[in-house]
Amino acid sequence: MLSIVVPTYLEAENIPPLITGVFDSLDETGISCEVIIVDDNSPDGIKNVVNQLVADYPVRLVQPKGRERDLSMSVIEGILAAHGDHILVMDADLSHPPGLIPAMYRTLLEDESAFVVGSRYVEHGSFDRRWSLWRFFNSHIATLITRPLVQCQDPMSGFFAFRRDRVEDYDCLNPIGYKIGLELMVRGNFTSVREVPINFSDRELGESKLNLNQQIKFLRHLRRLYTVRFGTLGEILNYGAVGAGGLVIDLLFYYFLQLLGMPHQLARACSFWPAVSSNWYLNRVATFGERKRRPHGRQWFEFVLTSLVGFSLNWGVYYILTSGTAYFDDYRLLALIAGVGAASVFNFVMSSLVVYNEKRQ
Ligand code: GDD
Ligand code: MN
Repeated sequence: MLSIVVPTYLEAENIPPLITGVFDSLDETGISCEVIIVDDNSPDGIKNVVNQLVADYPVRLVQPKGRERDLSMSVIEGILAAHGDHILVMDADLSHPPGLIPAMYRTLLEDESAFVVGSRYVEHGSFDRRWSLWRFFNSHIATLITRPLVQCQDPMSGFFAFRRDRVEDYDCLNPIGYKIGLELMVRGNFTSVREVPINFSDRELGESKLNLNQQIKFLRHLRRLYTVRFGTLGEILNYGAVGAGGLVIDLLFYYFLQLLGMPHQLARACSFWPAVSSNWYLNRVATFGERKRRPHGRQWFEFVLTSLVGFSLNWGVYYILTSGTAYFDDYRLLALIAGVGAASVFNFVMSSLVVYNEKRQ
């Protein structure tokens, strides 16, 4: 049996057309199916709406209690409540055409070890042309940075199907934010991702619940998945990305202060501080964003203290190289990079062995 999981928040008006759409599309296909609506206690009378449908359709309403509203958690709870071996997840707002459910299901039956995605970006797929440029770019950039994790053109899709037992332990899933499909793709035992082209249409009723906060959560979620997939290499990549941003700031200040007439070795000592502050801030909001936050001032101070060793190494290498050899005095940028490199390796090793030595989630 196919269990269709539909997470909802404030979608009561969309439920009747969705349910009729789903069962019309399955009519005469011989596919048996149930629909599980996982609603985060919307104050919109969804209970009555579902009650009127249960006489005619195999529909259930699940309303989880005791946690904040959370799309990904709702999907997981829906999967756990399902009776079928095969799961299909879709939005309630009719963005995902119910007519494609049989095709998605058949694709899954052809290869039960695959993760099947209703995809906007493969040939014959499409999305609403009324999308704003912002939303379009957003979606594309997000897709691009997931490329090393999954071979999928539309990893953000909320329309997907898979065999339930391909995910070993649902308690281990740990999505932050919206992208439960991506989480399942990365953590489940899937041998491939199969994409079925869909025509995604924007909702007619109600409004989207995606906002900037969700975008930031997405970056943290990605970081975590990179670590799951690539282990220490993922952490190094993340650390490197933050560090690269710091290096740019470092260089800007290093040259700018010299333009103002500061001697180069002093400029080198000064430019370290804005760079290290930027690294601190990025690590605070992105890398370690899930951890409880201490007051800015104190945390910055502690961070700076722990960076002092790195700073001594960084500046020390620069100083020794530029004052000791004519070569590095000619190519000061190389000396700077050598210093940054030495300090980065040192900091990373210390961080991973001492400061953040807890087990990964
Ligand atoms: N239970 C529950 N809890 N459901 C929620 C919540 C929540 O906190 N927030 C949203 N939903 C439900 C909505 O009711 C809808 O059925 C579905 O999740 C998708 O939410 P939308 O608000 O319609 O999101 P969207 O259209 O902006 O995003 C869709 O497209 C994205 C890619 O463009 C979703 O499919 C996303 O998963 C997808 O990433
Ligand atoms: Mn939507």
